[in-house]
Amino acid sequence: MTKVLFVCLGNICRSPTADGIFRELVAREKLDQKILVDSAGTGDWHIGKAPDSRTIAAARQRGYDLSVLRARQVSARDFAEFDYVLAMDKSNLMNLQRMKPSTYTGHLGLFLEFGSRGNYLEVPDPYHGDRDDFELVLDLVEDAAQGLLNHICNNALR
Ligand code: 4NP
Repeated sequence: MTKVLFVCLGNICRSPTADGIFRELVAREKLDQKILVDSAGTGDWHIGKAPDSRTIAAARQRGYDLSVLRARQVSARDFAEFDYVLAMDKSNLMNLQRMKPSTYTGHLGLFLEFGSRGNYLEVPDPYHGDRDDFELVLDLVEDAAQGLLNHICNNALR
């Protein structure tokens, strides 16, 4: 089993979007028994909450149901479980690097390193933004999710 954890700040906008979209790709390829998907936030404000209503609505327009997801906070224990810990931005990544046990042998990095849009290395935080910002999250995540799936199929699942 390859286990993937997406991490943002609140776990109500960007990482649930990545969670739902990547989960859908994995299901379409019938890889549910081989790839486990989860998401978490570095912050604790929204623990137990469903994703932001704007995130749910924008994702639903593209056929993804994020409404069943619930926010949780990332912890050092997650490094014992997940092979890939993928941050949405550099601030999330710095917080994760501080938390990472020295013995971790998995992949901790930026999610968009698996994307093909070289001008974006971070998924911009849409929380204080408008509709376009939520659409950009979906565009960047759909692209990088496909890249990540290709990478895992060519490496971890070989
Ligand atoms: P996310 O967006 O990190 O993509 O879930 C945010 C959600 C909430 C807050 C910040 C970012 N907040 O400050 O409450």
